[in-house]
Amino acid sequence: MKYRQIMKKMAALGLGLTMAASLHAQDLALTKEFVNQNMHDAIAQYKTLTARVPAGVLPRTINKANDSLITAKSNSWISGFYPGTLLYLYEYSQDADLLKEAENRLQLLEKEKNNKGTHDLGFMLYCSFGNALRLTDNKRYQDILLTGAESLASRFNPTVGCIRSWDHNGDKWKFPVIIDNMMNLEFLNWASRVSGNPKYVDISKIHANTTLKNHFRPDNSSYHVIDYDPATGAVRNKHTHQGADHESAWARGQAWGLYGYTLMYRDIKDKAYLNQARKIAAFILDHPNLPEDGIPYWDYSVSGPDVPRDASAAAITASALLELSGMVKGKESKRYLQAAEHMLTSLSSPAYKAPIGTNGGFLLMHSTGHLPGNSEIDVPLSYADYYYVEALIRYNHLLNR
Ligand code: GLY
Repeated sequence: MKYRQIMKKMAALGLGLTMAASLHAQDLALTKEFVNQNMHDAIAQYKTLTARVPAGVLPRTINKANDSLITAKSNSWISGFYPGTLLYLYEYSQDADLLKEAENRLQLLEKEKNNKGTHDLGFMLYCSFGNALRLTDNKRYQDILLTGAESLASRFNPTVGCIRSWDHNGDKWKFPVIIDNMMNLEFLNWASRVSGNPKYVDISKIHANTTLKNHFRPDNSSYHVIDYDPATGAVRNKHTHQGADHESAWARGQAWGLYGYTLMYRDIKDKAYLNQARKIAAFILDHPNLPEDGIPYWDYSVSGPDVPRDASAAAITASALLELSGMVKGKESKRYLQAAEHMLTSLSSPAYKAPIGTNGGFLLMHSTGHLPGNSEIDVPLSYADYYYVEALIRYNHLLNR
């Protein structure tokens, strides 16, 4: 498919970057050479990863003690990122081997369209099948996605006004909703556009509005988990699961919120969503604990030379800021663009980007999955790679306008 056709299709799918009317070529500090070099390196690195991944599973991270690959089954929240990254790399290169490997792994994921036990179907299905549909126009992928959207919608409780995130931790929480759940809403928005059924986008808007009301503190940082009473809709607890403490700002959670409200404004055009995205961006970019290189510590409440960073939070934030920069004007637009460029430059430096053939085949080093659970600390993570490559693709679109 030609570049212009892909862009048209992206707009239809809502997968695209809002055209940054306020940005001009001279505003862009990163070059085509920068993007080309990093995309070529990413393709070479992912070919080493592909050679290592056993059949029937998806790569998640590595065990740093012996460099062995840690994989996940299709029902893991991370299952869509590996095929999704391969599809972005295919989009850039048109390398048919990348598409073939992605489509092989999609076969594993198809059964998750019937999974009603998780809110993560947006990550699992839209990052994978959504990109596959956009790039191949295979209508079978559309059917799989629409079934998946119905499964996701089944988790909506109208009394609470939210999609339930997790079914586990039933002893601790009754109806947990995590900020990450904002990321699944573009899948529902898409489902309404394609099916003509407003049910999905209605759920998406109600979920975003309830989250806007209950998830944020006066400083515009976000709680991780809000626990609701499913019978009355009352807030029972404001907690964390992966952050430093209940009142802290878990770095990836802030990134999910920023990305989530940015995509909601792109799809729905309600200024309340744009304003929330701007407030979250200000919280992140003005934070005294944001390190010089723009790569956050794993939680904004902590800092110091030995505190682990979270490159995944930086990659998600950079991708969201590139989109947000196209929704506002003047100095504010440039601020978001420059912050994203700074993060992308750091992530692409030897401090974060692994030499080809190392890091188990993953692109980025130094992400943190779940520090309080003593799990995945200072490691590569498949979703860090996905949002890093997505940000490079988005930047490439800006350069090619
Ligand atoms: N959605 C799970 C995480 O960000 O770790």
